[in-house]
Amino acid sequence: MTLRSGVHIPEGATVVIDLQALNRDPELFGPDAADFDPSRPAPPGVAPFGLSFGAGVHVCIGQDLAAGVVARPDTDPSTHLHGLVTGAVQQLFRVGVRRDPDGPPQPDTATARPYWGRYPVLLGG
Ligand code: HEM
Repeated sequence: MTLRSGVHIPEGATVVIDLQALNRDPELFGPDAADFDPSRPAPPGVAPFGLSFGAGVHVCIGQDLAAGVVARPDTDPSTHLHGLVTGAVQQLFRVGVRRDPDGPPQPDTATARPYWGRYPVLLGG
């Protein structure tokens, strides 16, 4: 197939989408694209979470459940759908999650991307 950009993808090719680069693309999200800013307005036609949930006919059907929906000015925070991931992170902070001083995080050696393979934490007081 040939993309709108003119790039041709031959049959059988493996296509890897570099989410790390795409979701921080300054051309789409501005010069501070690398900063965490959930309130940053996305340009028309671009999802606020970039391509994290895919696109097209196989786009993730659980994206609202997982990541929540974008709040409007009149949104009631107590009933708003913030998403499972947000809820899990909030709950971790409520129970005092912190890095385990005896277990330094280890990079995931199975990928060239800067992901953690192991990130030990402590909970509670
Ligand atoms: C942070 C959490 C999640 C991420 C990052 C994520 C990401 C994705 C991505 C990238 C795809 C597209 C895969 C492709 O193009 O083939 C996808 C598809 C899908 N996701 Fe998720 N997802 C998440 C959570 C969920 C949840 C909570 C559900 C269900 C409640 C769900 C259900 C699905 C289903 C059924 C598909 C397949 C859709 C199709 O092929 O038509 N996902 N997800």
